[in-house]
Amino acid sequence: MADEREQAERTGDSAPWLSVKDVLAQKSVPKARIRGWVAGKAGIGGIVFLIVRDGTGYLQVSAKKGVANPQVVEAMREVPRESVVWAQGIAREDKRAPRGVELVAEYFGVVSKAEPWPITKTAVKSASFLYDMRHLSIRGKKAVATMKIRAEVMGAAWDYFRDKGFTLISAPTFVQAAVEGGSTLFEVAYFGKKAYLSQSAQFYEEAALAGLEKVWICQPAFRAEKSRTAKHLTEFWMIEAERAFADQTANMQLQEELVAFVVDRVLENRENELATLGRKLLRPDLPLERITYDQLREAAGAKGISFEWGEDVPTEAETLVSLTRSAPFFVTDFPLSARSFYHMTYDDRPTVTKSADLIAPEGFGELATGGQRIAEYYPLLQRIKSQDLPTEAFSWYLDLRKFGMPYHSGFGMGVERVTRWVAGLKNIRSASLFPRTTTRVSP
Ligand code: 4AD
Ligand code: MG
Repeated sequence: MADEREQAERTGDSAPWLSVKDVLAQKSVPKARIRGWVAGKAGIGGIVFLIVRDGTGYLQVSAKKGVANPQVVEAMREVPRESVVWAQGIAREDKRAPRGVELVAEYFGVVSKAEPWPITKTAVKSASFLYDMRHLSIRGKKAVATMKIRAEVMGAAWDYFRDKGFTLISAPTFVQAAVEGGSTLFEVAYFGKKAYLSQSAQFYEEAALAGLEKVWICQPAFRAEKSRTAKHLTEFWMIEAERAFADQTANMQLQEELVAFVVDRVLENRENELATLGRKLLRPDLPLERITYDQLREAAGAKGISFEWGEDVPTEAETLVSLTRSAPFFVTDFPLSARSFYHMTYDDRPTVTKSADLIAPEGFGELATGGQRIAEYYPLLQRIKSQDLPTEAFSWYLDLRKFGMPYHSGFGMGVERVTRWVAGLKNIRSASLFPRTTTRVSP
C-alpha cells in the first residue's frame, strides 16, 4: 500500500498535513490536507460524506457528483469503514456538518483498505464481545475519550509531584515480600525460586526515602483478586507517594491536593472528552471531609448494614455512605485488624491505625489507601511476629529501621480507579486499554 502513500505525497499541489483539530480550529483552509481512518460514511443525493478520524478528532469530508472529480466520488463511495485515507480540498464552515466544518475533497486516496468491520450492532451480543475485540473497539469515541482522560490523570500527577519536589522512582515487579497480604499474590517461577508480582512499591519507596526524602512512583501493580467486581483488575497502575517527616495529617493533605489538582487539569484540558462520556465532574472543595471508621460504621448500622468492629468496611457500607456524598472523602482510623502489618497505631489506642482510605463519591469506591508507617525496628519486628508473618521475607524492610528511619507516611492511588470516577465509568475495565481481570488475559 506504500504506492498510495507515495502518490499522496506526490499530489501536484500537495499542502502540508493538518490535524483534524487544526482544521476545526481554523475553520476555513483553502488547501487542507488530512489523513486518518474512515469512522463513518453516508450518501445523500449525489454527495458522499465520510467522517474521517485522526488522533485529534473527527472531520466531515464530502464530494459531490458532477462537481468533484468522478474518481474521487467513486473512491469515497467504495472505501470500507476503518480504511486509512487521505483527502485534500477546501475546508470551510458548514453548519450542517457535525462539527461545523467540512472538507470538500478535490483529491482523495486510500492508504490502507480495511476488511468489513466486525463490530456490528448484530455482532455485539454482550459487553464481553467488545472486550474480546478490544484491539479494535478501542478506536471508539468513548474509549478514546477515556484514554485521554486517563493520560491527563497521569500527566497531572507527574506535574503535581515534580512541583512539590518529589523524585520519580521505579521499583521491581518481581518481588519476594507481600506488601498487602499473601492472599492476592501472583506466584511466578523464578529460576528454581518462588517470586511474586508486586502488589505495591511501598517498601521500595520507603527504602528510597533515606536518599531522596520525597518519592513517588507510577507503575503496574498486581493482585490475584478473586473478586469479580466493577472496581477490581488483576493488573492496574498505581500512583504511590512516600515522604519522610510527614505524619498522617500531612499525608491526607498531600492526597486531597493531588485529587483537586487532577480534577482541575481534567476540567481544563478534557472538557470535550468529559462531554463525549456525558460526565459532569465537580471540582471538590478542600479540605475533603474526614469521617472516622467508627462514624462510618455507625452511619451504615443506622441504615441496616452492620459489621463487627475490626472488620474491613464491607463494600455495601462504603457504597451507602459514598452515595450520599458529592466529593471524595477520607475514612480515617481503621482498626489494626483491617490493615497491613506495617501500619502505625495511636499511642493511646493500640488497636487503631493512623491510616485512611480515600473514597470516591457516587458509589465509585476506594481511590486510595494511605497511612503512617512503623518507623522503629522493635515495634515493627514485634508486629510481624504477632501476625505470624515470615520475618525473613521482611528482613531488608526491617533493616531500614536500623539505619536511620524518621517518621514517614505515604499512600497508593489506583490510576484506573481515579479514571473511572473522573470519567464516570460503569466498570473499571473501560479505564484500561487492555484490561486484565480474573477471566481475561487477552487480547
Ligand atoms: O489499598 P491498597 O491495597 O494499598 C496499598 O497497596 C498500599 N501499600 C499503598 C501505599 O500505601 N503505598 O491499594 C492502593 C490503591 C487502592 O486504593 C485502589 O485505588 C488501587 O490501589 N487498587 C486497585 N485498583 C484496581 N484493581 C485492584 N484490584 C486494586 N487493588 C487496589
Ligand atoms: Mg486499600
